[in-house]
Amino acid sequence: MAEINASIGFDRALWRQDIRGSLAHARMLSAQGIITPDDEAAIRAGLADIAGEIEAGRFDFDPGLEDIHMNIEARLSERIGEPGKRLHTARSRNDQVATDFRLWVRDAIDAIDARLVSLMRALSTRAMEFHATPMPGFTHLQVAQPVTFGHHLLAYVEMLARDRGRLSDARARLNECPLGSAALAGTSFPIDRHATAQALGFDRPTANSLDSVSDRDFALEYLSALSILGIHLSRFAEEIVIWCSGPYGFVTLSDAFTTGSSIMPQKRNPDAAELVRAKIGRIAGHLIGLMTVMKGLPLAYAKDMQEDKEPVFAATDAAMLSIAATDGMVRDLAPNVERLRLFAGSGFATATDLADWLVRVLKMPFRNAHHVTGKLVAMAEARGCDLSGLSLADMQSVEPAITDDVFSVLTVEASLASRTSHGGTAPSNVARAAQLWIDRLGED
Ligand code: ARG
Repeated sequence: MAEINASIGFDRALWRQDIRGSLAHARMLSAQGIITPDDEAAIRAGLADIAGEIEAGRFDFDPGLEDIHMNIEARLSERIGEPGKRLHTARSRNDQVATDFRLWVRDAIDAIDARLVSLMRALSTRAMEFHATPMPGFTHLQVAQPVTFGHHLLAYVEMLARDRGRLSDARARLNECPLGSAALAGTSFPIDRHATAQALGFDRPTANSLDSVSDRDFALEYLSALSILGIHLSRFAEEIVIWCSGPYGFVTLSDAFTTGSSIMPQKRNPDAAELVRAKIGRIAGHLIGLMTVMKGLPLAYAKDMQEDKEPVFAATDAAMLSIAATDGMVRDLAPNVERLRLFAGSGFATATDLADWLVRVLKMPFRNAHHVTGKLVAMAEARGCDLSGLSLADMQSVEPAITDDVFSVLTVEASLASRTSHGGTAPSNVARAAQLWIDRLGED
């Protein structure tokens, strides 16, 4: 029983939040005349001492006392006697743990957000540096059209910005205080829930005592946002792995973010990227785990909910580490500009530019232009050259109206420069977008 029941092994991580909650509760009890100011002063001093003990690693966590709430309260009574035993008036561990856990998740969101800002700054700065550097853009992992390296990096800035938005939405929704809901039904004491909510930085007290102690949707929402973030980081990590592989050779990571092989002396493995790619397995796994714990639970509190903390703690650790490692890799990686340029023009990557030229200059319907371009690509493929390697006579054998002007759109640089539509990859667009992000992130 002791082994399955005790949560102190992991919920000690809530000690700061538990003490904050108790301080707010004690002050409110005293303000409402439920305990005396002397009791409150004793509680305040006792909790400060306990915080010092825990911080110094001198606190003796006792599994026999189940959880962090009982451990701190028992120690408080041991230190200050009767006032310590009055602290739990008009509260239950059910509203206490719900409050502590919301505070913890709120702090975690703030910590994740700060790391995301740093990563987005790194991406935006590198995007500015490479705003005009051509690289192949892919669909189906086949060379599609040239883009710039900066444009590719900024795609992730947009994704991470939405991740921040999701976390901030989750934060706004969780920012209601369950304290004072007591076990499930509220309390007969004349408590002031607005005062404790305000003291703890919540926007308001929760509205329904049953809901307050029995739902963990704030944790699920947080894990969902982390999972989507984890998916973004995992996709980027996968690209770094691909880009670093010899046959691609698009980017190089320094020794700081790679490891050697114990048998193959030439190896430089992108382990950090591979581990970021993998961490999403844990994060999404913990989301599914907690959803499965919560489904079908009758109201109100059930001990099942004690299983809410480890998944949230572990997913937070994985996300924090993944963001930091990605941040490091972004600052470290060196794009191999010549190779990126070479492949940007490979695979008939400017075929769309040719088709667009036929539409724009010869007023050909796009479907016909697509067909003509297809024939020219087949001809170039047969000759083993790219589109700009065909002669004007070759071109005219397929479409007599083609003129010399067509060659001006077949270079990678011309293709890039022409993509000036809103959100397109033209270097001028990319520089503007990168600057916008650098300015915006600077303000945070
Ligand atoms: N350790 C418990 C948890 O994390 C605290 C709440 C326990 N409440 C109770 N009535 N047993 O859920």
